[in-house]
Amino acid sequence: MKIAIVGCGYVFDIYMRTLRAHPEISVAGVFDINQERNRRVKDYYNFHIYDSYEAMLADADVETVVNLTWIHAHFEVTKKALEAGKHVYSEKPLTRSLEESIELFEIARTHGVRLYAAPCNIYSDMVRTIFKVVKDGTIGKPLLIYAELDDNPIHLLEFEKVRSPTGAPWPLEEELREGCTYEHLGYHLVWICGLLGPAVSVTAFSSELVENKTPTLPNFVGTPDYSVACLHFASGATARITCSFVAPRDHRMRVIGDKGEVVGDSYRHYRSPVYLERYTKTSLNARKFRTLRTFPSLGRIFGIGGKKIPLLQNWKSHAVMKDQTVRASLKQRAVEWIRRREIYAQDKFVGIAEMAREIRENRPQFLSPDFILHVNELTLLVQGAGTTGLATKPVTSFEPIGSIPGAV
Ligand SMILES: NC(=O)c1ccc[n+]([C@@H]2O[C@H](COP(=O)([O-])OP(=O)(O)OC[C@H]3O[C@@H](n4cnc5c(N)ncnc54)[C@H](O)[C@@H]3O)[C@@H](O)[C@H]2O)c1
Repeated sequence: MKIAIVGCGYVFDIYMRTLRAHPEISVAGVFDINQERNRRVKDYYNFHIYDSYEAMLADADVETVVNLTWIHAHFEVTKKALEAGKHVYSEKPLTRSLEESIELFEIARTHGVRLYAAPCNIYSDMVRTIFKVVKDGTIGKPLLIYAELDDNPIHLLEFEKVRSPTGAPWPLEEELREGCTYEHLGYHLVWICGLLGPAVSVTAFSSELVENKTPTLPNFVGTPDYSVACLHFASGATARITCSFVAPRDHRMRVIGDKGEVVGDSYRHYRSPVYLERYTKTSLNARKFRTLRTFPSLGRIFGIGGKKIPLLQNWKSHAVMKDQTVRASLKQRAVEWIRRREIYAQDKFVGIAEMAREIRENRPQFLSPDFILHVNELTLLVQGAGTTGLATKPVTSFEPIGSIPGAV
């Protein structure tokens, strides 16, 4: 599939890390409204740079536009591409309004093209493994999901100094203005809704806790840096998802059934370890012992936390490219190796690769328009819940999705 990419900021370089793992995708060219970004990307990747977005859309070779612009540009940029008869894969959240998102799918339908949206971590080997454990009945009936997305106290980490390999600054102000919920909730929603189906009710709370996160923005940005949502599903199961830029990093995903639990370490690491515990009286009672809780490796002997299980291995989702700028010192190369292994083992292109397969084989979208709209609506509801809270029923829904394509 021939794609063109609009928006060459920080996340662009993360996408590029796994492009070569998907030879069925080729990049016809890229465009950013910032000429400096075009120049840097041209120097580094040697991509064709379009003179304008219109020029990209006029290129008959381009089947799909990948929209990696900042969130407030998503709607307009995606709309233009759909109207030009291109399929679109957009970064999340699809838009900041459910009405706009519905309008985009309507435009896609009338132009006979498809619209997809990130996140795509449902295709990770870790999520596939969790789904298999649940579908095999190993933990019994899934009852409760606890999903954490605490992403560190953002104000303490000097993110303004972080640069991508091609020199794009990490967009600190943008992330603070949009907030952790817009930026991150979707990563948990995709796998939770994929597993449990559509939510039938949402109870949520959001607030802004940290003042003065960066000197270039007002004391309070006006966007929540903390949110918590309880989703209720038709099966009777419940999920609690927490998002923040406040608490130290914790990305755990726990699916608790009536016979045991399966736990993943981080949605962001596609080969993150998965632990399976089938509850026993010993493993449950062992949790009462302070010593076993204090020394987790001792606790594991009594079954607390279960055992690490082999991951399903799919396509090349573990293929992470090297940062080509890192040639210099041994120390820099070692840091790059650790980052690849520990932090960047994510494949942002896998969703586009799956899209390409579906279009080529004329299969319906696995993550259907209704699914994407539901994830979008839940994200918007939780972000807007505020400190007085929200309890409501979503207006969107979707047919539960089947097995993840490519699952063994
Ligand atoms: N930063 C991350 O770590 C990260 C990770 C995953 C997903 N995302 C998502 O990716 C998207 C982009 O984030 P980012 O971090 O790369 O932001 P960014 O600000 O670094 O990059 C956005 C780029 O889009 C360009 N742009 C904006 N409007 C445009 C337009 N109309 N036409 C052409 N170019 C335009 C900007 O000039 C900028 O270079 C967001 O939806 C974000 O939620 C970001």
